[in-house]
Amino acid sequence: MTSNIKKIAVLTSGGDSPGMNVAIRSVVRTCAYHNVECVGVYRGYQGLMEGDFKQMDARSVRGIINKGGTILKSARSNEFRTKEGRIKAHQQLRDAEIGGLVVIGGDGSFTGALIFNQEFGFPVMGIPGTIDNDIFGTSHTLGFDTALNTVIDAIDKIRDTASSHNRLFFIEVMGRDVGHIALNAGIAGGAEEILIPEEDLGLERLVESLNRSRKSGKSSSIVIVAEGDKIGKNIFELKDYVDENMEGYDVRVSVLGHMQRGGSPSCFDRVLASRMGVKAVESMLNGQTNYMVGLMDGKMELTPLDNAIKGKTKINLELLRVSDIMST
Ligand code: F6P
Repeated sequence: MTSNIKKIAVLTSGGDSPGMNVAIRSVVRTCAYHNVECVGVYRGYQGLMEGDFKQMDARSVRGIINKGGTILKSARSNEFRTKEGRIKAHQQLRDAEIGGLVVIGGDGSFTGALIFNQEFGFPVMGIPGTIDNDIFGTSHTLGFDTALNTVIDAIDKIRDTASSHNRLFFIEVMGRDVGHIALNAGIAGGAEEILIPEEDLGLERLVESLNRSRKSGKSSSIVIVAEGDKIGKNIFELKDYVDENMEGYDVRVSVLGHMQRGGSPSCFDRVLASRMGVKAVESMLNGQTNYMVGLMDGKMELTPLDNAIKGKTKINLELLRVSDIMST
């Protein structure tokens, strides 16, 4: 290990996601393994400015591998967006003799980390934690896999009642401006249609497709709607549109909401979080800074934070085609 860093801080920021606790555990234990001190920062950047720190050792993170949420709590801080706020945060880090900061969060949190590094030259490293899977530089963000499993469990349950009543259900899932959750969970949950921001199906085609489904003998249907979908109507307006424009449909709406962010992390997310924590700490101890760790082609890789923030994830076109064929 080539850097002089003797103490590393870790925080979680932005929307929480299942797997954040496993990543905290991994950061803390990797520090312990390399005889480096570790400090947990409560409430993200807000706690960083206020010096809300807790010394952590390998035993401080026992019993959290299966817990959703984040033991360090999370926050979205407006004050950290100001120069004054960041000066306060820097002073707190200096006072506590901390030499590096691991930020577990999404692109907003990484933007804060990058600005902080540019202003003070303070070493930072990002771990992508969000259910949305919207971060460039990793095939999977922490929590995406667990959220997908939560969503398909919900879809399966809704399908039971949809088919008992011959109903059409619009189910809204999270994902901010991208459709990764909707597309994957839609395929896995056997949805008839999936509406995502990356592809504008258009209302007419939606109606056509639903009519086709019915003619082909389907008595109930599930349509997954990504929260960021751009069809031009929200999920309740979609219901009204179908009520007004299609005969004989009994339509219901279900917005899954924040339940998608909770729950015990899946095996995949636990392994991913453990790997990411090790990579983040060891990279920092090797003198690397301003990177995000990510999973690419099965390997842990580093992407410059700047690219991770500016880059856009792409929707898998093959999955779109699979979903079209499956809804035949
Ligand atoms: O980014 C994660 C996410 O859960 C999005 O899917 C959703 O749009 C947003 O956060 C909700 O944020 P909040 O915590 O402010 O309700």
